[in-house]
Amino acid sequence: MTSHDRWILRTENTTYAVALATEGPWAELTAWGPHGAETGPSPLDWSGRTHFITPADAAPAEYIPYGLRPFTGADLVAQRPGEERGVWWTFSPEQTETTDDTLRLVFDDEVLGLRVALCYEAVPGSDVILRWSELTCTGEDELRLERFDSAAVNVPVTAGARLTFLTGQWAQEFQRTELELTRGRFEMASTQAVPGHAYAPWLAVQDAAHPADGKTPTYGVALEWSGNWHITTDAEPGGAVRIRAGRLPHEGAVRLAAGATLTTPRLACAFSPEGIDGLARVWHRYERHLTGDRMNRTRKVLYNSWEATGFDVEAGSQLELAGIAAGLGAELFVVDDGWFPGRHDDTGGLGDWYPDPAAFPQGFDHFIGEIRSLGMDFGIWVEPEAISPKSALHSEHPEWVYRVEGRPATLVRNQLLLDLGREDVQDFVITTLDRLLTDHAISYLKWDMNRPPTERGRPGGGPVEKQDLDAAHVAGYLRVLDHLRAHHPNVTVEGCAGGGARIEHATIARTDVVWPSDNTAPLDRLAIQFGYLLAHAPHTMSSWVTDAPGVFDPRPRSLGFRFVNAMAGVLGIGADIRTWSPEQRTEAARWIARYKEIRDVIHHGEIHLLNTPADATCGIQYEEPGGGRIAVTAWNTGRLDGAPLVPGRAARLRLRGIDPAARYRDAASGTEYRGAHLLHSGVPFPWTDRYDAELTVLTRL
Ligand code: DGJ
Repeated sequence: MTSHDRWILRTENTTYAVALATEGPWAELTAWGPHGAETGPSPLDWSGRTHFITPADAAPAEYIPYGLRPFTGADLVAQRPGEERGVWWTFSPEQTETTDDTLRLVFDDEVLGLRVALCYEAVPGSDVILRWSELTCTGEDELRLERFDSAAVNVPVTAGARLTFLTGQWAQEFQRTELELTRGRFEMASTQAVPGHAYAPWLAVQDAAHPADGKTPTYGVALEWSGNWHITTDAEPGGAVRIRAGRLPHEGAVRLAAGATLTTPRLACAFSPEGIDGLARVWHRYERHLTGDRMNRTRKVLYNSWEATGFDVEAGSQLELAGIAAGLGAELFVVDDGWFPGRHDDTGGLGDWYPDPAAFPQGFDHFIGEIRSLGMDFGIWVEPEAISPKSALHSEHPEWVYRVEGRPATLVRNQLLLDLGREDVQDFVITTLDRLLTDHAISYLKWDMNRPPTERGRPGGGPVEKQDLDAAHVAGYLRVLDHLRAHHPNVTVEGCAGGGARIEHATIARTDVVWPSDNTAPLDRLAIQFGYLLAHAPHTMSSWVTDAPGVFDPRPRSLGFRFVNAMAGVLGIGADIRTWSPEQRTEAARWIARYKEIRDVIHHGEIHLLNTPADATCGIQYEEPGGGRIAVTAWNTGRLDGAPLVPGRAARLRLRGIDPAARYRDAASGTEYRGAHLLHSGVPFPWTDRYDAELTVLTRL
């Protein structure tokens, strides 16, 4: 619906209403919530009276520049180079464009020569509204943009905000973290050319007056950007909570040439009336939409050799692993790092992307043929943006590396980073991948990235603020991924950056799975996955069974625990299966066979997170579209909760959101349940000291 100064966007279950402010030339949020929330007075309405600040500083503005909003945090800071900063624009009603699902509002500052379009798009079949901005230099002189966020989002809270976000470091990504913000500013950011391990570009917000769990209205944002970013949340003096999100230019500011338009990344804005868990389902639906037709491809059970053989890759040991993996039921064999010359450790090889003849004496194709004859697909690891100083590529093209003239180059993991923003570097990467994928029967690529840029410059590249190196790198990365999709559509791509440092919607839309963390130790991994699944869908979550005790977390858990953990997403195996006993192999084959029966439910189902890894028992409920089957992955974390272990009452996980009148059967035990029982009493799990995980499949009768 459109009126002269009010616009309403509707998603499946949500309304987002925007109006032109009466106090000045900006748009304001008037409602965001379930359908009908737009009726009645706006919960964001404010008195209009201000002291010592301006109305714009107090307004729930959708996007507002420094100049108009001088004190409380602007979304856009622009100037003519060398002149005062500030934008004082007016609304251009004649340029408004609306459809049922989209809205475009335009504001012009004719003195500065800047046009800003606020863009909105409701994503069909979801509860996500995409927001971004288009900034055009309409004057004759270039502009300097110091801040150019994608959007600002106002959250209607009454008593401060409870922020839920995902924090970490390498090997500890996606830790669910909470903070109550009643006043002041909280910022998450990355300047690492990737979203980074420290924070995911994702935030959930609730009114602190409501409980964190249960049917609490929950708002979320996620930034679709593979490079530097920030999300700033202000609990403003008047009690309003406002989030600003966008890119963070490497150079501190970027120049916008006369006539040029800068389009910001999209900020996805989501709402659920059903708490953090409900918000997760909104994000999952959105990611299934991003995956599109590729949702129909079965994600194969993978074996990856990294943890078994490290850099010691040679045909004999790989084939031994492959033979066992095939026997267990693996459908895909991936040789990780170490298959190319000079890669005996992390000091060499990167850039020289040819199979190492010493590792594959009968030829790479012969080796791949052997893998394929075992009935498995074949894949390799690459790190296309990386370069080892002692590689042949580095001696041929030292100018392709990020560097600052006259400054030493810092090595991280003994490697340097290519300036993927350069077209010649992109062309090199595309040609290299085309060659590998065309010359050899490779159907899976794991794209890794293991270092952030340090001395990030492009000598001879012109004035730094005109380079916008971060955006150029992102464009190069996406260009190569798009090329892979277009020219090698049958190749499955796994996204990885030293674990989970580059996971956001631009990557999710162009890859098939991502690797959330290098930490595969059972209990650590469980917590990482519970955090991951708040923001991302199970069909994107690559997960391996590895050996116990883990590299990072020695707390013991059973093989079954590790299998149920890994099958909560896309199952893989990364253990040294040569050392597994016949009993372990039999058990593994049984788990893999069970997973294959229900992986569709896991990858397409609606999930509910049942308890958390901080509880003695936790689980994930996956309900098949249509409700025919429910899979429950359940774990006993070993945490003592006062209940006797043996003998004792079974632990229970209460299911959620199912029909109480429906009847279900657990084929494995033969037990029949009413939905009401599963909701009220839950599925029983009679844990023992060795029985610490289960996959329960309930079929609706
Ligand atoms: C980091 C990745 O996260 C690991 O899975 C592995 O591929 C190594 N790099 C290889 O160097």
